[in-house]
Amino acid sequence: MNDAPSPCNVLLLGTGGREHAIAWKLRQSPRLGTLWVQPDANAGLLALGRPCDAPLTVRERFFLKSWIEKNEIDLVIVGPEGPLSEGIVDDLAGTRCRVFGPTRDGARLEFDKSFAKGVMKQASVPTADGRSFSNHEQARAYVEARDVPLVIKATGLCAGKGVVVCSDKEEACAALDRIMRSREFGDAGASVVVEERLSGQEMSVLALVDGRTITVLDPCQDHKQVGEGDVGPNTGGMGSYCPTPLATDALMEEISREVLVPTVDALRRDGIEFRGVLYAGMMLTPGGPKVLEFNTRFGDPETQPLMARLQGDLVDILWKTAGGELDGAQLSFDPRAACCVVVCSEGYPGKVRTGQVIEGVETADSVAGPGEEVVIFHAGTSRDSSGALVTTGGRVFGVTALAADLGRAQALANAAAARIRFPGAFFRRDIGHRVLGATSQQGGATSQQGGATRRQGGAAAARG
Ligand code: AMP
Ligand code: GLY
Repeated sequence: MNDAPSPCNVLLLGTGGREHAIAWKLRQSPRLGTLWVQPDANAGLLALGRPCDAPLTVRERFFLKSWIEKNEIDLVIVGPEGPLSEGIVDDLAGTRCRVFGPTRDGARLEFDKSFAKGVMKQASVPTADGRSFSNHEQARAYVEARDVPLVIKATGLCAGKGVVVCSDKEEACAALDRIMRSREFGDAGASVVVEERLSGQEMSVLALVDGRTITVLDPCQDHKQVGEGDVGPNTGGMGSYCPTPLATDALMEEISREVLVPTVDALRRDGIEFRGVLYAGMMLTPGGPKVLEFNTRFGDPETQPLMARLQGDLVDILWKTAGGELDGAQLSFDPRAACCVVVCSEGYPGKVRTGQVIEGVETADSVAGPGEEVVIFHAGTSRDSSGALVTTGGRVFGVTALAADLGRAQALANAAAARIRFPGAFFRRDIGHRVLGATSQQGGATSQQGGATRRQGGAAAARG
C-alpha cells in the first residue's frame, strides 16, 4: 500500500465551515506540502492556505488540468456537492493527482433523490415509502389518495431547503404547487419524491468509502431548525455534536450492514465505484433505522466536531480513500465529546445583512480549561479593505468545543460563542438537548438510549 507522498500538495475546493475544519486537520499532517484554497474562501480558511488562481468553472476544466500539473498538485479534495454534481472528479481523471470525492454517477445519490430512492429500493435499504413524480397532476392525485402524513421533496439540489414536511393533504398539495408549478427551487423541482412522514431521532452517519472498503466515522447529530427546542424553519444546520449516545454499537452495525454496504454494492453492480464520503441521514423510527437522504460529501456542520475528534493523518486518509487503498489506513477518534455551535447573522435562514464587523474571535477560545479545547471554525467571514473581520453570510462561525462529556462541551461552546460579537449575532444554546435533557426526548428511538454499549471512539470498518 502506498502512503501519501511527502510533501503532498493539496487543492481544497469549497469556501465554508466544513472546509475550514478539513483544512485545520490537514495542517496537522506532517506530510502536507502546499495547501491551496479558493481565493473566495472564508477568512479562517484563507489563513491556513495559499489562495489559488486555479480556473474552477465547468468550462475551464481543461485549464484546471494544466494548473494541477504546473503546480504539482497530488490531491484534490472536493468539499461541496456542487462541483461533484458537475462531474469534476470525472473531468480530472488522467491527471497526476488523486481526487477525493465520487464521480458524477456516484454523486447522483445526493443530487437526484429519485435515483437515490431507486437504488435503495433495488438494494432493499430501509427508507420511507415513497414515489417519484415528474407530472404535477399525477403527484397531486397520489397525495389526494393518501391518508398518512407526507413529505414532499424536490428531486434536485436545493441547499437543504427543498424538503417540506407536511401535516395534512392541504399542506402537501400547497408544497407540490410551490415546488412543481411555481418552481420555488428552480429546475430542482421539475420532479419530486412524495414519501411517508417518519418520526424519531435523526442521526448523521458518515463513512469513508474507497470503492470497496467502508470506514464508518463516529455518528453525529445535526440540529436543522433555527430555534431552540427545534422550532422554526429549517436551516443548513445550527449545530451538531459527536459522538451521539443514540448510536449503540449494535445500531451502528445494523446501519453498516443494512444501509452502507448494500448501497455501495448496488452502485458497484451498476458499474459505479463510489469513492469519497457516503453520508446517510438516518431517522431512528420505532420500526428501526431508516434513510431520509444520502449526501455524497462531508456534512456541514457535522465535519467540525468530526475533525475536532479525528485522530490520524487526514492527508494520508483522504489520499488512500481516493486511491482505493483505505483498508489499513490509521484512523481513530478522540474519546472526548465535541459540540459545534453555529453563530448566525440576524435574519438567518432568511435574508441577512452582511459586512458587520466582528469582535472577540481571538480570545473566544480562552474559556477552555485543562484537558479541554475550543476551535473557532469560520464559515461566512472575510477581511474588509482595512483588514477587519466582517460577516459575509447567514452562518458565520462553527464554534467547536472538546470536553470530557457532551454537557461540558455544550457549555464550553456556548461560552465561547457568546464572546464573539457582531450586531445581530445569535446562536442556539441547546445543541445536544435531545440527549442531554430527558424532558425534550421525542420520537421512537429513545429506547436506544438505555442500551448497554455506547459508541465512543474507534471507527468500524466493513467491506462493501
Ligand atoms: P433531507 O434533506 O431529505 O434530509 O430532509 C431534510 C429534513 O427534513 C430532514 O433532516 C428531516 O428532518 C426532514 N425529513 C426528510 N424526510 C423526512 C421523512 N420522510 N419524514 C420526516 N421528516 C423528514
Ligand atoms: N448537515 C447537513 C448537511 O450537510 O447536509
